[in-house]
Amino acid sequence: MRVVILEDAAAVSNRAADIFCHTLRKRPDCVLGLATGGTPLKTYQELARRYQNGEVSFSDATSFNLDEYVGLPAGHPQSYRQFMHEHLFSCTDFDASRCHLPDGSGNDLKGASEQYESAILAAGGIDLQLLGIGSDGHIAFNEPGSSLASRTRVKALTQQTRQDNARFFQSIDEVPRLSITVGIGTILDAKHILLLATGEKKASAVRAFVEGPVTSMLPASALQMHRHVTVLVDEAAAAWLSRADYYRQVEEVQSELEGS
Ligand code: PGA
Repeated sequence: MRVVILEDAAAVSNRAADIFCHTLRKRPDCVLGLATGGTPLKTYQELARRYQNGEVSFSDATSFNLDEYVGLPAGHPQSYRQFMHEHLFSCTDFDASRCHLPDGSGNDLKGASEQYESAILAAGGIDLQLLGIGSDGHIAFNEPGSSLASRTRVKALTQQTRQDNARFFQSIDEVPRLSITVGIGTILDAKHILLLATGEKKASAVRAFVEGPVTSMLPASALQMHRHVTVLVDEAAAAWLSRADYYRQVEEVQSELEGS
């Protein structure tokens, strides 16, 4: 796991955008795994800015989002489809027909979950998977206790996650109780995983998943089992890391090796 400690959230988004652009340059028809929430917003703004400057194009890319609420009507302002449309798809040249999100609006959620897994496979798997992390250590909506081998399915949200997400709704009562989410096994199949964490509220979860044991009680810890994970954190989210000095040293050496 490559842990990169950066000054602030703006530096995290810039570096994340660099990694996206690098992936797209290497393979314009790559498959991107996308995330919602407060953390990736600045990265999407930066990608939209670079697109508008002619620095990057998404026209040949395919995307799969991590998760969606169950039961929100189509077009609901807090649905993740709406979020992606507003913050990324409509600001860039993504081809809407290749932008996928799990469908949490139908009656056959099991069928929709299986279809989603098949669609990812049919696209050739995910090249770059963007992740945030919940304050309880969840990735996508894989809450503590999720099987580390899980695939796309319906998952109940914890009270903590509903509380964390209540800021986007009028009240916590409006936050859905269920989601349809890719599994931890689905995430681990991605070729490169890029996790972003910013702000002091994430410091405890960051320390636990980077330096603690691998456990389903802290779903992000499963990333320790993956060969190619980049973790971008700002100083606040890195505050509880006991080996921060070492990660900084590694980064210096790595930057020299990469000639940056
Ligand atoms: P946030 O959510 O970016 O809004 O903090 C992250 C997550 O729950 O994965």
